[in-house]
Amino acid sequence: MPEKSTVAVTGVTGALGSRIAAQLSDRGVPQLLVGRDPARITELPGAQVRGPAAYDDSEAMREALRDASTLVLISSHPTGRRLEEHASAVRAGIEAGVRRVLYVSLVGSTGPDAPYRNARDHWMTERYLAGSGLRHTIFRAGLYGSTIAALADSELAVRGPGGDGKVAWVTHDDIAAVIATVAADEDNTEHDGEILQITGPESLTIDAATKQVAAATGRNYHYVPQTLDEAFAWRWKHGISGEQIDSWLSWYQTVASGRLDFTTDVVKRITGRPAKPISEAGWWPSPKTAW
Ligand SMILES: NC(=O)c1ccc[n+]([C@@H]2O[C@H](COP(=O)([O-])OP(=O)(O)OC[C@H]3O[C@@H](n4cnc5c(N)ncnc54)[C@H](OP(=O)(O)O)[C@@H]3O)[C@@H](O)[C@H]2O)c1
Repeated sequence: MPEKSTVAVTGVTGALGSRIAAQLSDRGVPQLLVGRDPARITELPGAQVRGPAAYDDSEAMREALRDASTLVLISSHPTGRRLEEHASAVRAGIEAGVRRVLYVSLVGSTGPDAPYRNARDHWMTERYLAGSGLRHTIFRAGLYGSTIAALADSELAVRGPGGDGKVAWVTHDDIAAVIATVAADEDNTEHDGEILQITGPESLTIDAATKQVAAATGRNYHYVPQTLDEAFAWRWKHGISGEQIDSWLSWYQTVASGRLDFTTDVVKRITGRPAKPISEAGWWPSPKTAW
């Protein structure tokens, strides 16, 4: 059992994990930076680079998590095997002596029948953690405002059946700030067993959010609402696979349903400062990176 707190952060080659790691480094928290490709991990003061470790490689994960007391587990890319991957990473953590897991889930992960396809295995991972006996906190991240830029096509059009549904889009920085704050204070048990829903400051339709992205970037991002039939037909025409269509159309349909039309005070309550509007995201992925 490790004696002092050391936070292992996975997914550090990605947008969220890298921000959590940077914020922990700024706070002087000892940490392990875990990734599948250590050559792509940015070194940070007070941090050790660990890996290569993929979630489903139990032995490599066990070795990478050696000496960690808290594990920040960034959810994997959707592969159809996410629960198995997450469970494998958690088991490796237990075997390595981890005392607490902070898991990055998603808003709307309310059950096995969650309308957004990618939310379903988040919910199962949440249940897995609840039964693990470990100290754990679930962070249900709001939808990233930056995804709007990634979903745009080469004409900067965001096309889909999102209707007028509203979402409290959130920035990576705010999600990272909440998680880093909780990760840095292992002795505080206040958030054990909690589900913290991290949202931005206001609910906006895709149309309104896209206008904010356009204003922030000075680029002509625009929303083109589609019916479900139009959305399918347009994607088939562009050679997008059935699974990808199901994933993204279920994202738009979840937005349209209004289920994500809520804000929380989690950013303010945990970090002490208000959540940023998406116009201050400061980072916009290239178009067509989340098609
Ligand atoms: N809230 C939202 O709106 C939203 C939107 C999109 C995704 N997400 C979820 O949130 C997660 C984090 O978001 P992000 O923006 O940081 O995504 P990202 O930039 O794609 O980063 C994902 C990170 O997870 C790592 N990873 C993925 N699968 C893995 C596996 N099987 N084993 C080990 N590492 C693995 C990746 O490693 P490599 O560099 O080796 O690939 C990468 O470092 C995503 O992975 C996804 O599950 C949420």
